[in-house]
Amino acid sequence: MAEDLTIVKGSKEEEYQSLLPQIKGLVTGETDLVANMANVAAALKEQFQWFWVGFYVVKDGELVLAPFQGPVGCTRIQKGKGVCGTTWLRAETLIVPDVAKFPGHIACNSLPKSEIVVPVKRNGEVVAVLDIDSEAYSFFDDTDKKYLEEIVTLINF
Ligand code: SME
Repeated sequence: MAEDLTIVKGSKEEEYQSLLPQIKGLVTGETDLVANMANVAAALKEQFQWFWVGFYVVKDGELVLAPFQGPVGCTRIQKGKGVCGTTWLRAETLIVPDVAKFPGHIACNSLPKSEIVVPVKRNGEVVAVLDIDSEAYSFFDDTDKKYLEEIVTLINF
């Protein structure tokens, strides 16, 4: 499938509800992981216009930058380091309202103020994370967590 997204503007809940079936359509029937990560990052960026949205995948014991939308990012992150590495270690979603207050936060760019990182799990193991940065403080909440956790299950890692 390669069609334009329909961008609905409304509450956060309404925007995710509109986007979710479209993301399903984008990844259904496509088995290539990079292609699917790329389109999911692009669809999320197009809908929400976040500062940065993208994936890091676990490779040889570290997180390595994967498809994303936004300014250039750090390429490698160690387990337990920064928000991404801590999400990997804890295997649970982290919502950070003010990145300056997160011990060890990795600033690839000085502009992001808040962040959410969602682990992607296969057979109980974290195989990747979805990382999203906003230029606004306290931008992410449990609605983002709920939908982003669902969206990452749509990709066959
Ligand atoms: N801030 C992240 C690093 C990745 S960039 O935001 C793209 C962290 O602390 O893990």
